[in-house]
Amino acid sequence: MRGPSVNITNMSPTTQPNDGSLVTVEILDNGNLLNVCWPELGQSRFHAVWLRDNGQDSQTRDASNYQKLITLNDIPVQTLIDSAIVLDGDKMELVFNPDGWSTVIGLEWLWERRYDREPDRVDRICPPTVTTWGAEFANSLPRASYLEAKSDPHVLLDWLSSIDRYGTALLDDVQVQSEAVLDVISLFGPPRETNYGRYFEIKAQSQPTNLANTSLGLQVHTDNPYRDPVPTLQFFGCLQNDAQGGDSVIVDGFRAAELLRKASPSHFELLTKHSAQFDFHGGKNAHLRATRPILECSPEGELLCVRFNNRSADAFTQIPFERMQEYYEAYRHFAELLTSGQLEVSFKLNAGQLFVTDNTRVLHGRKGFSGSGLRWMQGAYADKDALKSKILLLQRELSVGDRGVVG
Ligand code: FE2
Repeated sequence: MRGPSVNITNMSPTTQPNDGSLVTVEILDNGNLLNVCWPELGQSRFHAVWLRDNGQDSQTRDASNYQKLITLNDIPVQTLIDSAIVLDGDKMELVFNPDGWSTVIGLEWLWERRYDREPDRVDRICPPTVTTWGAEFANSLPRASYLEAKSDPHVLLDWLSSIDRYGTALLDDVQVQSEAVLDVISLFGPPRETNYGRYFEIKAQSQPTNLANTSLGLQVHTDNPYRDPVPTLQFFGCLQNDAQGGDSVIVDGFRAAELLRKASPSHFELLTKHSAQFDFHGGKNAHLRATRPILECSPEGELLCVRFNNRSADAFTQIPFERMQEYYEAYRHFAELLTSGQLEVSFKLNAGQLFVTDNTRVLHGRKGFSGSGLRWMQGAYADKDALKSKILLLQRELSVGDRGVVG
């Protein structure tokens, strides 16, 4: 069955032609499939059960909070499309067998969620929203003023979007006072409180429980791989930095993983397919342990999380005996990429400056420091869900799409 042709000029100009061309629909495979023809943009098939599950009528979705009101058990097993008619140029009415259920789905909504397409990521392991970087990124580190980000939602949106895309950003004009790092986090959401507290001090001390508090250099690492889930954002605010040296160092773990996979697919596979173990003894207060891969990927093969922290690596016991030697070669290979310098960006943070890292992706470390001066930082954790939520809210508030980033 073919539905009437319609005008789609009111759809998003980024995804649709604006020449007044027409969308057509056709039922295939005895009602199991619907084929939608997008003029000049090809066609997409949709399954009957998928369309029924994603109806946008008031019985399927709550109109105010958009939560689904039906369960899969409410949908007949043998759901078929009985009829499909395009209405008003921007939506489609569907009726299903065997129960005569009727629903409406917006065409722009459908276009943005089409799944009948050739994979566009044959050789890609990073989400399309991510841009990886190497040492050259030192010249274009995203940065903003805290005072401007606090008062101008456009600046805040650009700064948060940079963190989302690059996994890091700097912030200037932060108040030089204790807990200012929490004020920065409050720009988008709550901090992640841990056994270290809502924030923690990073300064030299004579008998540290954690090596972060000595004047030694620190190899780049992700924080807290022994935690489940790991904190997904980390903030470092500088209150004083009179020491000689002590530059902060960051490395894009996703870029390192891309290089590892290119140089040795078997090394990449070893670090993704087998779990490592991480452990932290925090005295009387905590004993944290997690067993996860060094490179965690989604079922589709996209990178989700890098865990790399030599200080908290426990004995690895999850790797098959036959592959342990090769696993260590892969582990060393990845470490060499992370520390070779080709991916390293370093900078000296001064009082009133802050940087943030996506702790599932960007590793951080520092060079050693000396002298009589003090290097005093305060750190805090937060999570990406709140950051991404704030981006979506700001985009809606400011009526903008992907605005790109500051740089
Ligand atoms: Fe750290």
